[in-house]
This record gives sequence, structure tokens and C-alpha cells, in this order.
Amino acid sequence: MADRWGNSRVDSRGSGADGGEQAPGADLHLELAGPGSKRDRLMRALREAISSGRLAPGTRLPPYRSLARDLGIAPNTVGAAYGELVAEGWLTARQGSGTRVARRGTPLPRQRPHHTAAPPRRPAYDLLPTSPDAAAFPRADWLAATRRALAAAPHDAFGVGDPRGRPELRAQLAEYLARARGVRTAPHRIIVVAGVAQALSLLGTVLRGPVAVESYGLEFHRSLLAAGGRDLVPLGVDAHGADIAALPATGAGAVLLTPAHQFPTGGPLHAERRAAVIDWARTTGGLVLEDDYDGEFRYDREPIGALQGLDPDRVVYLGSVSKSLSPALRLGWMAVPDHLADALTAAKGTRELWVGSVSQLTFAEFLAAGAYDRHLRRTRRVYRRRRDQLVATLAAHAPHLTVSGIAAGLHAVLDLPPGTEPQTLRAAARLGLAVNGLSPYRHPGSPVPARDGLVLGYGTPPEHAFAGALEALCLALPPGPAPGPAPGPGPGVAGERGA
Ligand SMILES: Cc1ncc(COP(=O)(O)O)c(C=O)c1O
Repeated sequence: MADRWGNSRVDSRGSGADGGEQAPGADLHLELAGPGSKRDRLMRALREAISSGRLAPGTRLPPYRSLARDLGIAPNTVGAAYGELVAEGWLTARQGSGTRVARRGTPLPRQRPHHTAAPPRRPAYDLLPTSPDAAAFPRADWLAATRRALAAAPHDAFGVGDPRGRPELRAQLAEYLARARGVRTAPHRIIVVAGVAQALSLLGTVLRGPVAVESYGLEFHRSLLAAGGRDLVPLGVDAHGADIAALPATGAGAVLLTPAHQFPTGGPLHAERRAAVIDWARTTGGLVLEDDYDGEFRYDREPIGALQGLDPDRVVYLGSVSKSLSPALRLGWMAVPDHLADALTAAKGTRELWVGSVSQLTFAEFLAAGAYDRHLRRTRRVYRRRRDQLVATLAAHAPHLTVSGIAAGLHAVLDLPPGTEPQTLRAAARLGLAVNGLSPYRHPGSPVPARDGLVLGYGTPPEHAFAGALEALCLALPPGPAPGPAPGPGPGVAGERGA
């Protein structure tokens, strides 16, 4: 059906007799604009719809009388336009099968794809630390939660969204984060965001003064803070996490940390440093931004609770489902001190523009039903097994190299002999293995010397490709020293299991 502006619904299934009720079909926007007679304008609109692909070859057009009625023009005009387009080869008309878009020889060439070169080949194996195993996404449980969430959703869930997030999700998150991560918060202190990345963008605009960042971290997280006007000061990191003793001298008013599992080097922030950073925040009025991106994954003992639990007024806690479920959901949260809640909400705007209410309600239901806990328990077992397999494989094939950061998370770091990172990455690429070196994570002004190494995302490959990825990794590594008469070094696993 058409409105008076020329939006016509074309029955692409080919039914609909003149004068009768038209069967539902594809919506077609016909713009009868521009110069010329009505017939000319209709012909132009149909040619445009065909050449752009909006009307596919074989599509049956509505009978000319109904299109005429829909467009508010004379049936003869539509009949004449159809006739001319048949003559030009755009349309075909056959007794009994109506008027259709011509199947062969579409008169105008279709838009060419932008790239004529072959698309880059995907690597056969992937150990990038970007994602959990995408094949492990709990589709059935997520679908069931979506059904229940939709059935129970109030009508207002389909109206304009509150920028703080759906109340159902904020209540579930407050309960879950307290129970599982030791976060001290309440629903009114939770702000739903499209991942940690959005939280950092908002913080970049709301905070004042420089922000200290770990000298190894995600470059794009640093640039999100910088885009908000923040100057960044790098803080050294070692096996015990960020060098908190150096923090007061930076003059920063806030510090971004990954306390549970330093990203990417892998050390948990040492207990003394956890206490020291809270002391710093209390005495200076500073703020800690705690990125708890993979805090649920701890393998050899209970997870370390969130730093936020030590002082909820001085820590902004950040998390998301990107490591636990999928980075494609774009679903995350902040647990914020009271004094920042209004400013951070205002920075998001007056309405929710990023996170859809259906995925928020689904995740709330997923949490409430215990499906998130079950999924985490299941995947923790899988990733722990992979972690063990990675460590055992490296101990057997590369005992001269040290692997660290293995107590938690979905990635580990393999240190390489100085200067060998580029050649190892080239060898990996030749073997079809996508893997990152340590260097791109290093802040250019880092006070600690550069390390050569690989960041091994062992959560990423699908289960069937994991063994192949390890094999390719071992082949890409630089060889160890030639065996001599003395016994060689034992497996080089940094002793951090109990860290
Ligand atoms: C250090 C770090 N922080 C946070 C995240 C999550 O970011 P987001 O929630 O924006 O996907 C990741 C990746 O998953 C990460 O590696």
C-alpha cells in the first residue's frame, strides 16, 4: 500500500488481485519526485529501484490498478509506464504471471563491489587475546532468557531508555557483583554501558586532570581517555602489577588499573599495592578506575575480590560480558561512587543510545536464572584445561622460554629472547597463526624497559582448533640453545600459581 508521499508496498510474492486486499509483501519506497510527467517520474522511480537492487530480478510488481490506487495516479499512467519499461527490457509481462522485474540483462550495471582484489585470507589459527571462544556462546540459554524476558517485559521497556540502564539489570548486577566479585554497590550506583570502552570514554570527559595508566595496556583504551582531554602518565608494571609507589609523583588525579590480572602482562596486583593505592586515593582525593575485564576467571584458587570492595567511594568499578560471553554483545557496567553517579549519567545523555533494552532484559534474566554462573563454571573448566595444555606444551617444546600470567584470565605471556619478537611474529604469520607481540601494548613513555614476548589468547580458538594452534605456535618459536653436556633448564613457568 502507498501513502500520499509515494511509499508503496509492492507485493513481491506475486499475489493480490486488482481491487482486492493486497497480500503483505516487501515494502518499496517509490519516490515520484523531480521533473516530468507522472508517468516519467514513476518510470524513473522503478528504474532506480531495479538498478539499485531494491527490486530483485523476478519480483512481481503489483497489478497496475492497485499501484495506481496506492500512488493516487490514474491506472492508465501506471499501465503506460509498465508498458514502456517492458519495451526497454526492465520488466517482463506474461499472461498469467503478471509484470515482473526482468531476470536477465538488467539494463544498468549493478554497483560494483569496492574491492576487486581477493579478500585477505583469514589465518588458520587464532591466539589473539580478543575474545572468549565464540563457539561457546550459550545460544540456547540466551534464547530461553530472551523469551522469558520479552514475555515479562513491561511496555515501557520498548519506549525511550533510561541512560542508567534498565532497573531489572541494575538490580541483578548489584546482587551478582556483590556475591561473585565482592563489589560493594547498590542498583542506584550501577550504570549500564556498551562495554568498558564506553565507560572509559565517559570517564575521560567527566574526570579532570591527568590519569595514570599501566605502562602495558590497550592502546585504544588509552586513546579513549585521551579523547576526553585527559593527559596520560605511564606507571611501570612488574610481576606484582602496577608500581603504585611511583603513583604520587605522577601528579595524576586518577589511575586506571587491571588489578585482578594485569593486561596484558598477567600479574595480579600485590596485596600491599592494593592497600597502597587505596591509601593514595584516600589521602589525595584520587580515584581508582578498576578494569575487572576477566576477574571471573581464576584457576588455582578463589578469585581475588574486586579492589572496589576496599573503598567504594574511591573506586569506579568497570566490567563487561566481553570475556565471559561475547565482545559482540556490547554490554557492560560501572559501579560508581555516589558523588560521580550524576555526572557520569549526564555524560551518557538524556536517553539510552547504545545498549538495547532487549539485551539488557535478557542479561538480567540470564543472571537471575543462574545461567551466567553455570556458563562461567563450564567455561572456567574448559579454559583451565586449555591453560594447562598450553603450559605443558610449552614446557615440552620450548623449555628455554618462560610463560607467565597463567593464574587467571584467558591469556598468558610468553617471554622471548631480546630482539626475537618480530621474527617470531613473522614465522607465526607464515604458519597461519594470528598472535600478538607484547610491544604494541607498551606505552611509548613507559618507565620500564621493553620486553620481547607474545600475548597468547588461549580462550579464542574454537575447541577443535586449539591443538593445531599450539602446534603452529611451537613451530614459530625461536629455537633454544643447543643441548650441551650439562642438564638444561627445567620448564620455564614463572612460579605464580599461588600468586
Ligand atoms: C584490558 C581489557 N579491558 C576491558 C576489556 C573489555 O572491553 P569491552 O567491555 O569494551 O569489550 C578487554 C577485552 O575484552 C580488555 O582486554
